[in-house]
Formats: sequence, structure tokens, C-alpha cells
Amino acid sequence: MPQPTIESILHEERLFHPVAEFSQQAQIKSLEQYQQLYNKAKADPQAFWAELADTELHWFQKWDTVLDWQPPFAKWFVNGTINISYNCLDRHLTTWRRNKAALIWEGEPGDSRTLTYAQLHREVCQFANGLKQLGVEKGDRVGIYMPMIPEAAIAMLACARIGAVHSVVFGGFSAEALRDRLVDVQAKLVVTADGGWRKDAIVPLKEQVDKALANNSAPNVEKVLVVRRTEQPIDMERDRDHWWHDLQAGVSADCPAEPMDSEDMLFVLYTSGSTGKPKGVVHTTGGYNLYTHITTKWIFDLQDTDVYWCTADVGWITGHSYIVYGPLSNGATSVMYEGAPRASNPGCFWDVIEKYGVNIFYTAPTAIRAFIKMGEHLPNARNLDSLRLLGTVGEPINPEAWMWYHRIIGKERCPIVDTWWQTETGGIMITPLPGAVPTKPGSATLPFPGILADIVDLEGNSVPANEGGYLAVRHPWPGMMRTVYGDRDRFRRTYWEHIPPKDGQYLYFAGDGARQDEDGYFWVMGRVDDVINVAGHRLGTMEIESALVSHPSVAEAAVVGKPDDLKGEDIVAFVTLENNINASDELKNELKKHVVQEIGAIARPGEIKFADALPKTRSGKIMRRLLRSLAAGEEISGDTSTLEDRSVLEKLREG
Ligand code: WTA
Repeated sequence: MPQPTIESILHEERLFHPVAEFSQQAQIKSLEQYQQLYNKAKADPQAFWAELADTELHWFQKWDTVLDWQPPFAKWFVNGTINISYNCLDRHLTTWRRNKAALIWEGEPGDSRTLTYAQLHREVCQFANGLKQLGVEKGDRVGIYMPMIPEAAIAMLACARIGAVHSVVFGGFSAEALRDRLVDVQAKLVVTADGGWRKDAIVPLKEQVDKALANNSAPNVEKVLVVRRTEQPIDMERDRDHWWHDLQAGVSADCPAEPMDSEDMLFVLYTSGSTGKPKGVVHTTGGYNLYTHITTKWIFDLQDTDVYWCTADVGWITGHSYIVYGPLSNGATSVMYEGAPRASNPGCFWDVIEKYGVNIFYTAPTAIRAFIKMGEHLPNARNLDSLRLLGTVGEPINPEAWMWYHRIIGKERCPIVDTWWQTETGGIMITPLPGAVPTKPGSATLPFPGILADIVDLEGNSVPANEGGYLAVRHPWPGMMRTVYGDRDRFRRTYWEHIPPKDGQYLYFAGDGARQDEDGYFWVMGRVDDVINVAGHRLGTMEIESALVSHPSVAEAAVVGKPDDLKGEDIVAFVTLENNINASDELKNELKKHVVQEIGAIARPGEIKFADALPKTRSGKIMRRLLRSLAAGEEISGDTSTLEDRSVLEKLREG
């Protein structure tokens, strides 16, 4: 008996067509054009990717084989040589884009900098020479633990330029989390800053690096390169620590990009598994460059006059692919913002959009739910007329949050691209192309051309429309991760063995539950680890949460299962309320009724708990695993190093 898949219980009927003015100007202009591309790629994926690699990127030497697939290990553009820093910088210098803004940076205290392509190129070359001077060579790993300042992107591009492998660790992570990652990746050097600004306070980055390296606990690290940002006093260890501005004064700005093998490692980025130690996701050069380039171009519909802003941090994959590599490879203007909405300036995002005339805005559902809670008077007080396209990533977006984004930020005029992907996939996999694909709130819609996504059962059979199952991908794609750093076996186990290969065909297992509707649209229902089994019905978290969020009093919701003798599991909902709404038992009953009304009695939460805030990862994902332990009255176990705010857990425990 195959294990029952996941049941879908929420129905969403709204449909939004792209507006004609948008479609006419768009890179991909119609559903027919999308379908043509999709079918062409499906018929011959290798020819499809090879043609794009040829027309969109600069190669020092062309590949001789497009794809070498020895499942689950893929090699793309075999024996081709390429440099992603060259594609992001040098090739634009011989065009009019030489003096176009590459990065527009806004610091939290209100300082700002703009770097043209020529300026960015110069800084990257100097930084690369600085790294070399400190002993970094091709193949060495470099840790990057930085605030959101241009030097974060510069350091990444400088590593790529000389063939060093970067491993960015999010600047909000603790010294222990940093140390574990530096040790696992065997970093030779760490790039950091004295500090960074976050919510009106200084994050003492260099101090954390000192802690991470104390007592020789990361013996592989020989040097620390420190960028000056906040200017508070810090300790500098002789021979180990070097100021970037001292080094910069003495290095040349001449540093040709190293021709890299297409399959040379570009970076390692750690993702936290729900248990066990973080996995070092390995991405290589050629395929990643192509995949991030073409997805950025088509999904964000880049036009040369656009100002594009992705609000992610460079410490996670969205920042790698869609602040740095994808936009710069396309010669776009990419905004980088150091700050976060905070008490002293809750409307800062809207200020940035108005100040720079941002046209394309890409953020996360968690941020959108926070904006809703802060109130629409904030965006309404700014001029957001420049916006023409909106995007979201990171979690399923609740349909009501989508509608708010559409109405209040997009003024019912801007398409929304709800982009499903993962650190492992390198780039966006399922998404509308904004001029072509009609959208439905809460659905990531259709696969990107060349991505053979499917919903399957645990035996790898496609499931019928509207039946829930496991989101999987049937053919390798250029941006896919190549392995887990130092652990090929874990790579195989985690992504390729839950669904055994069938007739020699391997399926990539994403770990998400989803369904496809009658139009082929994908609806992600949450992580399969989070599925709740109520009386034999396997329910995803997203649909129940969306039903709760559609109640006017609810700001955010997270549901988990709690062991129950009768039903197997009972649904426990953790709910945060809109400002000015008081918690009461009546409201609890009303919310239970509301869920029953929206999706049926099967999804009725047995218990509702009001909370001030939900536990989230640093990248804004709700950590249901912790809530599950709380609901069951168990000790919290497993890795909590990625938790954003520990006090949230303490409060939940007391409440
Ligand atoms: C979730 C972030 C629904 C999903 C780029 C995935 C989403 C995990 C969406 C990867 C979306 C991301 N709709 N779910 N549009 N985008 N997810 O590695 O569960 O930080 O597996 O990559 O986020 O998270 P990661």
C-alpha cells in the first residue's frame, strides 16, 4: 500500500490576467509563448539549455558535452571554461552599461553609495588582489560574514574572480553557528566587518568572529579581512587580522578573471535541516551562472531602465542568486538595503522604493504579513507609482496576504510572481512569467521552461489533478546543487532516495507537499515533515494557516499536530493577532468556526494558542518543529542555531 499522500482542502477561485500594457513590453509576452518555450525545452532539454548558454553568456572556451548525468550527479557544460565575475562585470564594460549603476546601496542610518559597473569592477579586482596577497588561491574556501554593504557582494565576486569558493554565513548567526560552518567548509580566510547596522543597533560582527576562532577552534582559518563599517573599537589580532582599507591602498586594480572549469565549485551555502547538522549545499560555476541569469531575465522581466530590489540578505540563497549573480549577469541595477523595518522607521521599505524609483520589488511572505500588521497607512503615505512588478519567495503565501500585496502595494496593476524554489535548486523553479501566465493567489503557478516538475506518490507515479503529493523534478537542470559539501552519501540519501528511481529515471525530492490543479498550477502545501495526520487525513500546514489568516483579526498563524489517542494527531494553531485586537476565548471559538466554514470540520483546530510572535528562522520561515515540541509538552531538541529570536520561544513556553 502506498502511503496516503496529502489531502487538499482549501479552494481558491480568483484568477488575475496580466494587463495588456505589461504583456506587450514583456520579455515573454503571452501564454502561448510560454508554452512554446516550455514544450521546446521539454522535447530537448539539452538543446534548450545549450542554446541559451551560447547566446546569454561569455565562455572562454566552449563545452564539449552539454550534460553528463550519472544520477544523482550532474555535470553541465563539460569542459567549458567560464568566469561568473567576468559575466557579471567585464562584459558590460565594453557597452554603454559601463557607467550604469550596478549596485545602489542604502545604509540603515541613511548613508548611501552607488557603484557603476566600472566602479564595481575596479573594487572587485582590488579585493581579489587583496585576497591573493593574504594567500588565497584558486580552490581555497573563504568565509564571508558581513553586513549588507557593497563589500559583501564585492567579496563574493572577488572570490569568484580568482576561483576561490565562498561560503557566506548570514551576519545574524551566532559565533557557534559561524564556527561550525567555517570548520565544515575548511575556510582559510574570513571576510567580515567591524559591525553592521540592524534595527538601530550595531551587530558586532568582528567580535563574533573572534569568538568563533577563539582557542584555535577553527584552526583552518589563517587570516581575517575586516571592512570598516560602524567604526566602533574592535580588537585586531597581529598577523591574523587585516583592515581592508589598509590593504586596498596598496593593491592594483588589475586582476583578470580566472578561466574556471564549468564544474568548478563556486560556493557552498549552508541550509539547516530540521535535525542534524547543517548541510553545505554545493553550487558550481557554469550551470549556476546560466540558470540565475535566465530566470532573473524572464521572471523579473528585466528592462534596461529598471531599478530592481530584492530585500533578501546576501547570507541566504535569494541574496546570492537574485541580488548579486542573476541581476549583475544581466547588467541590471540592483538595490541593496542594509536596514530592516524597525520602530524608528517602520515604513523604511517604502521610503527606499520612493527614493530610488524602484520598479521591481521582491520580498518574502513573512515581510508582507508584517507590513499588513503595521498598517496600510505606511505604504499609502509614499509614492509607489514606480512599481511595475512584485515578487515573493520563501514560504507559501497565504491568499489573503497575496491580495493585500496586490491591492495595497501593486495598486491592482502590478503582476505578482510567487516564486517557488530552494537553496538546493539554485534558482527559481515554479513561477508565473509575469507577462504571460495568469495568476491565482497562493499558487506559484507553472514550472519555468526546462523544469519538469511533477507531483508524485512515494513510488514516483504522477498523481491525478487536485490530489496532493510530493513535489519532485524529473530531469536535471543547470542550477541544481551538485552535492552536499564533503558528503556525497548524504546528498543521495536526502534528495534521491525517498522516491526510489523508476525505470532508471531519478526524481529530485524537494521535501514539499503540493498539488497541481486542473490547469496544471502548482499549490505548495508546506514541508512534508510538517504534515498533520488527523484521523487518517494527511493535511498540509499552508491551507489551514491560510484559512486562519483570512480572518480579519489574525495576522499570522502556524499549525502543528499534537499526538492524540483518538485521532492520531490533533491540530494546534498558534496565532498572532492584528494590532488592537484582544485575545479572548470567544475569539478562539470564532476562529475554530471560521476554519470549519472555510475548509471543513476535518481541519478544525482542537486548540488555539495566542502568541505575541512566532518562532522563525533568520530568513523568516516559521519553525513548526519547535512549536510541535511545545504543543506536545516536550523538550525542544535538534538544532536551534537558526532561530531568529530566542525570547519568542521563552514567551511561548511561559504563555
Ligand atoms: C519554501 C528559499 C511555497 C519551500 C529560496 C521550500 C516556498 C523552501 C516558496 C526552501 C514559495 C520557498 N511557495 N513555498 N513561493 N518559496 N518555499 O532553501 O518549503 O531557504 O522547500 O530557499 O522554502 O527554502 P530555502
